[in-house]
Amino acid sequence: MSKQGPVQRKLRKSASRNQYLGKDETKRFDITSDKRNKKFDDLPIIYFVTPTYPRREQVAELTRLGQTLMHIVNLHWIIADDVPTCNTMIGKLLKKFGIPFTHIASPMPDVYRKSSVVPRGVANRRAALGWIRKNIHSGVLYFGDDDNTFDLELFDEIRFTKKVSMFPVGLIGDYSVSSPVLMEGKVIGFFDSWPAKRKFPVDMAGFAVNIGFLLSHPHATMPYKAGYEEDQFLVSLGLKLEDIEPKGNACTEILVWHTQTTKKPASTIRISQPTDNSLKVLLENLKYLGMAQSSTSKGAQGLLTKDGATKQL
Ligand code: UGA
Ligand code: MN
Repeated sequence: MSKQGPVQRKLRKSASRNQYLGKDETKRFDITSDKRNKKFDDLPIIYFVTPTYPRREQVAELTRLGQTLMHIVNLHWIIADDVPTCNTMIGKLLKKFGIPFTHIASPMPDVYRKSSVVPRGVANRRAALGWIRKNIHSGVLYFGDDDNTFDLELFDEIRFTKKVSMFPVGLIGDYSVSSPVLMEGKVIGFFDSWPAKRKFPVDMAGFAVNIGFLLSHPHATMPYKAGYEEDQFLVSLGLKLEDIEPKGNACTEILVWHTQTTKKPASTIRISQPTDNSLKVLLENLKYLGMAQSSTSKGAQGLLTKDGATKQL
């Protein structure tokens, strides 16, 4: 018997799941066809807003996300970095993906950085909202953090959002999910382990907004209030429960995950002598990427290992 490759296995698994759910398989498989070089002028543009900030993991996160977004047509990526001026290293990285993008420097005001619960990504999203209000008339807005995981199907689901669409987000809180709950196709409430008196207890990645609808609410904005950013933004849009367009197979499937990367400070590597081998440029690159720096006096001792024996660098 011939061995099944990963693609065959995936198709089989997906097919059996679709049968179980009674789904239309043609729509499912359509997403795997290569659309990158075709024109889709009639499709609304998705404005994908990503807050980001400098830390050891930043380039890894943006590389993974950029390479997800490369699969999506008619998408404009707005990357708003929590820095005073645009970082050229990040600018160069963004060009690599070939996706239309806007790079914004949007530092968090110092007063919020010092607060006990920091409203992460708010200055960034507010700056992106300002850019959209000034430059864009139609399309769909989506807030996708740099460390989340996105199924390509999500983009087909949100692209035709009329006002606000909503769907489950995986790996949130004590339920491992946050989702609207439906009854006969209508939202009757929310399943989220941290209600906190919110009208819309949803995650930032759990909704998309039509830009025409956003523009019809000129004062809608996101507050600097940790934990309440999504809720108060949606309330400021005058959203009603009956306006919500459920997605993700009627809020039963996970198409986005709130993955989190373990964060560690950039490494300091102790290297006493100048190196004349490939490490010289590798270490320069690590510094450029914000991952590590070398020092002659402190940090983890640099070692060169050969045949199990080590030599201090
Ligand atoms: C959760 C939600 O998924 C976020 O959408 C929400 O903004 C955040 O909580 C919050 O309310 O504080 P979480 O994974 O806990 O997110 O937070 P991070 O992923 O660390 O930060 C959210 C976004 O803000 C990320 O895209 C991150 O790159 C950015 N960020 C974080 C900054 O721009 N500056 C920071 O100092 C920290
Ligand atoms: Mn996160």
